[in-house]
Amino acid sequence: MGERSLRVIRQFQNYYDDLNGVRQAIVRCIPGAPGQRWLDVGTGDGWFALEMERALFPRSVVGIDVARCEVELARQHARDFNSRLSAFVQMDAYRLGFPTGAFDGVGTFLALQDICLDLPSMQRLFEEVNRVLKPGGWFALATTTPEDAETPSQRLALEIYRYIRAGFFTKEEIQEALARTGFRIERIEFYPTGVNLDPEEAKAFIQFECDWLERAYGWRNKFDWQAVWGYFEPRIRALGGLEVDAKVTFFLARKIASLKRVSEVVTNLSPEAND
Ligand SMILES: C[S@@+](CC[C@H](N)C(=O)[O-])C[C@H]1O[C@@H](n2cnc3c(N)ncnc32)[C@H](O)[C@@H]1O
Repeated sequence: MGERSLRVIRQFQNYYDDLNGVRQAIVRCIPGAPGQRWLDVGTGDGWFALEMERALFPRSVVGIDVARCEVELARQHARDFNSRLSAFVQMDAYRLGFPTGAFDGVGTFLALQDICLDLPSMQRLFEEVNRVLKPGGWFALATTTPEDAETPSQRLALEIYRYIRAGFFTKEEIQEALARTGFRIERIEFYPTGVNLDPEEAKAFIQFECDWLERAYGWRNKFDWQAVWGYFEPRIRALGGLEVDAKVTFFLARKIASLKRVSEVVTNLSPEAND
């Protein structure tokens, strides 16, 4: 345990805001140029967008999220941060309300698994990201790849996420989807966060995750968090805690091809187009 320098977290509410500086470390690896326009998809509390604002010297950063409560939180964080360049908007990642080629870069941090629950939806999301990027634009995608979990405690955290609600994709699945949607992968890197929630904080985490579904999406038939805790508690206690969000997989990809929109393909196939 010591070798991987785990941090036992006793303040569950704060661990996610910081994540041991991983958002900052990732943004610093993005080879953006000053004055660019960036988009953060599934921005949540807005931390990744605000790191982009700090590190990339952009013209603007827009963070979008489907959940109104998250957008409000992101706006509050932007005020606390004295942000001048970031804006937060409630929007669905599959229907981005921006013109084609509007952005120099798109980022997304630990949101892929929330936005997409299956392979076709991941492909749809990447197509939409491709559309709003300029040619040569960057796609900075940070997620968790389940096969790279290093410990039983990390694997259990993924099992709990999946049990409550989250789709995770393997590196290979993500690589294939990126290649199919006009991206070339430039780098894949791993970032450990060292997070290890103690059992009481793991309980608070499970309660938060279950209740959040109602707050964010209005789900009425959400899980009863006490039942979920009861189900997983013995294994969490046996492991001495839960390594949640402990390892982040980062893909840096570049748009190398524009995808033809379905309407263009239909026009090209019509008899008049062949005359
Ligand atoms: C784990 S949170 C975000 C983490 C955030 N990027 C950060 O840096 O902390 C994932 C977010 O994805 C959002 N989300 C899920 N489905 C979405 C969709 N279809 N469009 C936009 N956002 C979505 C959720 O509302 C949630 O806020």
